Amino acid sequence: MSMKGKKGIIFGVANDRSIAWGIAKKLLEEGAEVAFSYNGERLKRSLDKLLQNHPSSKLYDCDVSAEENILKVAEQYKAEVGQCDFLVHSIGFADKSYLEGAFLPTPKDVFLQAMDISAYSLVSLTRAFKPLMTKGSSVLALTYLGSEKVVQNYNVMGVAKAALEAIVRYLAYDLGPEGIRVNAISAGPVNTLAARGISDFTDLLKIHRKIAPLRENTTPEHVGGAAYFLLSDLSFGVTSEIMYVDGGYNTVTVGPISAYDKEL
Ligand SMILES: NC(=O)c1ccc[n+]([C@@H]2O[C@H](COP(=O)([O-])OP(=O)(O)OC[C@H]3O[C@@H](n4cnc5c(N)ncnc54)[C@H](O)[C@@H]3O)[C@@H](O)[C@H]2O)c1
Repeated sequence: MSMKGKKGIIFGVANDRSIAWGIAKKLLEEGAEVAFSYNGERLKRSLDKLLQNHPSSKLYDCDVSAEENILKVAEQYKAEVGQCDFLVHSIGFADKSYLEGAFLPTPKDVFLQAMDISAYSLVSLTRAFKPLMTKGSSVLALTYLGSEKVVQNYNVMGVAKAALEAIVRYLAYDLGPEGIRVNAISAGPVNTLAARGISDFTDLLKIHRKIAPLRENTTPEHVGGAAYFLLSDLSFGVTSEIMYVDGGYNTVTVGPISAYDKEL
């Protein structure tokens, strides 16, 4: 119960497959007081079901594309919970018609929306909750390898994740002198609602488990364990870090030859 006494908020639980739910389960298990933010009434119903055993958890509706929504949640959280020892940003969105085929056709409005919801919102959320943070508070975002290497169909989300990772470093630099840490986990592909918007995603899962050194797909629980480390005092000296939780996939260029089509 090493998170006992710690309070914080998780943005991005859509259902029991969400990476954020893997993180939430671990934090609740370790005794943290966890508040949740959801985007819209439909997702509130899903959260209500998941939190049947945690009826005292505070829930806040927030579409992060509007600054005033973020400020409102921070105000409500301040009044009802108070301190913010951890904040999890597990949010991503891009128009799925552009998560297939070429990147080149991506229109400006699609690009800006993906950047706004998937990257800039980390800046807004951190700024809004910072007055409630103290030395030892920890901010965590979720990213993906498509930020640094080309992954077919990931397109504009790859660009947004590159921005998100840079944002992690700049925020970590800004907040470090106050003892507030900012990190990201780069997760391997996980079969979630958001991921299913990416064309050929199930093939990506298959390729991953053939090539990753651990030869298995990443799960929300794998991410939950690493998130617990990054959000707890165990990682007191760690900030500005992008930690891979991908079974080692990012370290491999040519995997087992048996994984490739022999006809190539
Ligand atoms: N699933 C993967 O393969 C994978 C891999 C690496 C990183 N990630 C990242 O993990 C994070 C969580 O995604 P997930 O895969 O668990 O999918 P998910 O669909 O379970 O979660 C995505 C969340 O983003 C929220 N969201 C979208 N637009 C929003 C908005 N305007 N305002 C507020 N919330 C909004 C959704 O409500 C949802 O809860 C994302 O940042 C995603 O890019 C996912």
